[in-house]
Amino acid sequence: MFRKIAISAVSALSLMTGAAVASEGTAHIEDIPFSFEGPFGTYDEHQLQRGLQVFTEVCSACHGLKFVPIRSLADEGGPHLPADQVRAYAKQFTIVDKETGEDREGLPTDNFPMNNGAGAPDLSLMAKARAAFHGPYGLGINQLIHGIGGPEYIVNLLHGYTGEEKEEAGNTFYENPVFSTGWIKMPPPLADGQVEFADGAPNDVKHMAEDVAAFLMWTAEPKLMARKDTGFKAVLFLILLSSLLYLTNKRLWSAVKGPKKH
Ligand code: HEC
Repeated sequence: MFRKIAISAVSALSLMTGAAVASEGTAHIEDIPFSFEGPFGTYDEHQLQRGLQVFTEVCSACHGLKFVPIRSLADEGGPHLPADQVRAYAKQFTIVDKETGEDREGLPTDNFPMNNGAGAPDLSLMAKARAAFHGPYGLGINQLIHGIGGPEYIVNLLHGYTGEEKEEAGNTFYENPVFSTGWIKMPPPLADGQVEFADGAPNDVKHMAEDVAAFLMWTAEPKLMARKDTGFKAVLFLILLSSLLYLTNKRLWSAVKGPKKH
């Protein structure tokens, strides 16, 4: 009985790791030292703003961000845009009003529109849906230090194209060893110099990909900084509590144990 359970647990585990490997394709995912990684990492507000610009000018043609409220662009710890810019940003979208059923301008209280142009998946949670770093031995140490590798997967995917294409059943596929099957339906979306940044930051494919990947990490985990902050305080508190308990324990037992004999 026990052996049976153990065997099925092992095969479930190998199935799971097999699936994880398959979701990352065959290519090696290069690590990128993002500002938000590690136990004390924080988002870089300017990078998130540049990423938002890349998303808006390039990716939003096909992809949606249906779980992301536009008003969160003003959040501290996020892109932190001033309220008037958020209102102006929302206005570019035409939203079908839920109550009247008529078209109206977008408001900060709306979410980003959904979009699945050409079968493109929603990107709200993509950075957390693709984990490129695992182990060692399921301990999660890699992830503690380097993050889960989702943003790295996106960066590697965006500049992983080999330039080869093929036609199959009326669809064009582009060769990209980072993608699970090696052939992706998304045409290479970025080209050097495609987006002009107001802060003059470098705009080659690699840098734009890093900026948009950081932005997508924020959409997937907008409260990452608050989570780390709370975690840090909780650990400090536990250290303090353990020392006090240790001292209390010593004091309580001192009468029983008596003074040290030697
Ligand atoms: C011309 C339309 C188009 C544009 C523009 C586009 N994409 Fe895509 N994207 C797609 C399609 C279609 C897929 C689904 C590919 C597939 O399943 O073969 C996809 C899939 C993806 C995936 C998921 C890959 C996976 O592992 O499943 C990511 C991540 C992604 N796109 C990111 C981006 C980013 C970031 C941008 C902007 C820099 C962008 N895309 C611009 C069409 C587009």
